[in-house]
Amino acid sequence: MSCESMPRLGSFPFFFRMGICALVITLLGGYIVSGLHLRWHYDNRDEVPGLTINDIVGAYHGVQTPSPLIEALESGHPDTIEDYERTELLGWLEGDRVSLDYDNLDLGELAPSEIIAVSCVDCHTRSASGNDANPEVPLEYWDDIRKLADSKDIQPSPIGIVATSQHVHAPMMALVMLVLALLSAMTRFSTRLIGVIVFVTGFGLLIDMASWWIAREFSIFAYAIVIGGGVYAIGTTLIGCLILLECVLPGAKEESA
Ligand code: HEC
Repeated sequence: MSCESMPRLGSFPFFFRMGICALVITLLGGYIVSGLHLRWHYDNRDEVPGLTINDIVGAYHGVQTPSPLIEALESGHPDTIEDYERTELLGWLEGDRVSLDYDNLDLGELAPSEIIAVSCVDCHTRSASGNDANPEVPLEYWDDIRKLADSKDIQPSPIGIVATSQHVHAPMMALVMLVLALLSAMTRFSTRLIGVIVFVTGFGLLIDMASWWIAREFSIFAYAIVIGGGVYAIGTTLIGCLILLECVLPGAKEESA
C-alpha cells in the first residue's frame, strides 16, 4: 500500500479527529515540560547559572577543571616566592582543609593567608596598577581566593542511572515518533516532505541516544546529544502540527477521493 492509498485523517469522524488533536496537543505539551525539566535538571552541573554545553558535558562525560591557583603555582608563577612557600601553598590547596587552614593561626607565617598577603597581594588587588599587576584576579579576600582554590570535579551520571533513563526514554521517544509518523502518512501533506522529516527525526533520536554512551568517552559528543535531541524535538513538533492541521482543516474528503 502506498502512502497515497492510506486513509486520510481528515475524512475521519469529527470526534475521532478532535480526540487525535487532544492527544497530539498533550504530547507536544509534555515535550515542552520535559524541555523545562531538562533545563532545571542540568542547569547547575558546572556551577555556572543557565544551561550550557558544559552542563551537558558534565552530566554525560564529567568535567575536571583544576584550581587556577594550583595551575598558576605549578607553572612556576610567581617567580618571586621561595620554593618552600610554593610547596606549602600547593600542599594546602591539594589537601582537604582548604577553608580550615586558610588562616589557621597555628601555622604562623606559613598560614596560606600570610604567604598570600606577603607574596601575592601586591600585584593582585583590585586597585593594583603597573605592568606587573593583575587587578583582574584579586586575591585580597578569602572570598576571592576560595573561588580560585576549588578544583571542579563534576562526575558524569553513574552508568546505572544512564541505563535506567535510556531504558525509559529510548522506547518511549521512538514509539511516539513511530505513531506520529504513521498518523502523518494519513494527512494530505506531501509524503516526500513528511518522509524527509521522519528520516531526519529518526536519525536525530538515534544519534542522541547513542551519544549518551559515546559522550562518556568523547566529550565532543555532548554536542551530538544536544543536536540530535533538538532535531528530534523539532521533528516531532512539526509532524504533530501537520497532524493537527489535517484534523482541523476542512476538505480532506474531496482531496483524498
Ligand atoms: C609581580 C606581580 C605578581 C605577583 C607577586 C603574583 N602575581 Fe599572579 N599574576 C600576575 C600577573 C601579571 C598575572 C597575569 C599574567 C600571567 O598569567 O602571568 C598573574 C596571574 C595569576 C593567576 C592566573 C589567573 C588566571 O587568569 O587564571 C593566578 C591564579 C595568580 N596569578 C596567582 C598568584 C598567586 C597565588 C601569587 C602569590 C603566590 C601571585 N599570583 C603573585 C602578577 C603577579
